[in-house]
Amino acid sequence: MVVLVSGGMGYIGSHTTVELLNQGYEVIIVDDLSNSKDVVLDKIEIITGKLPKFYKMNILNEEDLETVFKENKIDAVIHFAAFKAVGESVSMPIEYYHNNLTTTLVMLKLMKKYSVKNFVFSSSATVYGEAKTMPVEEEAPLSTTNPYGATKLMIEDILRDVYKANKDMNIAILRYFNPVGAHKSGTIGENPSGIPNNLMPYITKVAIGELKVLSVFGNDYNTVDGTGVRDYIHVVDLAKGHIKALEKLSTNSGLVTYNLGTGNGYSVLELVKAFSKASGREISYKIVDRRPGDVGTCYADPKKANNELGWIAEKSIEEICEDSWRWQSNNPKGYN
Ligand code: UD1
Repeated sequence: MVVLVSGGMGYIGSHTTVELLNQGYEVIIVDDLSNSKDVVLDKIEIITGKLPKFYKMNILNEEDLETVFKENKIDAVIHFAAFKAVGESVSMPIEYYHNNLTTTLVMLKLMKKYSVKNFVFSSSATVYGEAKTMPVEEEAPLSTTNPYGATKLMIEDILRDVYKANKDMNIAILRYFNPVGAHKSGTIGENPSGIPNNLMPYITKVAIGELKVLSVFGNDYNTVDGTGVRDYIHVVDLAKGHIKALEKLSTNSGLVTYNLGTGNGYSVLELVKAFSKASGREISYKIVDRRPGDVGTCYADPKKANNELGWIAEKSIEEICEDSWRWQSNNPKGYN
């Protein structure tokens, strides 16, 4: 089975590519390398012993992407390629809406033209906005608080309409909680450019001494220690969820939507503590004001994915921290 992976050189895309290759899928990557590096391809080959076909292109360009559909017989598409920084999306809404929506529409248009029926979409728990009840189920009300999140929800709505009009399509909407960790080999991992926005890469950069002190955004939430609680899921567990989703689509599932999370919440300070233990490094932190737009608590009800996909997040918070640390300490400068 041939799977086209857009954004396959990125953090989640590269880990998913590794799992696909390990499971015997043939993978074609399209990526413009705007937020990744070409060495990722070599690293994927080192881990799996297989070299996926790679097209360096920006999929906003329909003509370019069409060459991929012309040259290959594609069975399924996993669409990761997108802009993903929440803060940046607030200051660059036009770019975010244009990029995230148009790339998806171009992909869907070509899938239709070339009769490719299976589509997996990278959505996010951000579509639950400020969810009222925890853990959050797939049926919870949807809303967003920033343009990045809005693009995810808009694309979900587009996919629901596309499915209504094309009942022979199979579409999996996967809502990720907080992806962290890295491949066990320490070969691939998260490689944010500049100062990380997200918690785990910030912690790992404090641990190697590149950044001095972690700012903890608020300690007055209604949580175990006042700091924000999230559902941190190992990126390899998340990657495996995509394989299970493809298997589901192959049964002619129609449109399906799943939370990919562990079902457990950890506070910022709990994660800091677990990471210190795993790495043997002290993580300096200071409490600062809440970050605008943050919610106090967010964790998944993953039962639907557990039951219908036969998938479960298996890796513990300890393993997550060990793997994040191995990646960062083996690669102090990331892929640079
Ligand atoms: C954010 C986005 C989510 C996106 C995800 C991955 C929102 C509201 N959140 O999730 O859509 O999919 O990033 O890119 O749209 N924290 C600190 N100090 C830091 C960084 C974070 O204390 O330097 C805290 C936050 O307040 C939060 C937790 O750590 O409680 C996790 O933050 P982060 O890693 O940024 O992820 P989210 O905000 O949950």
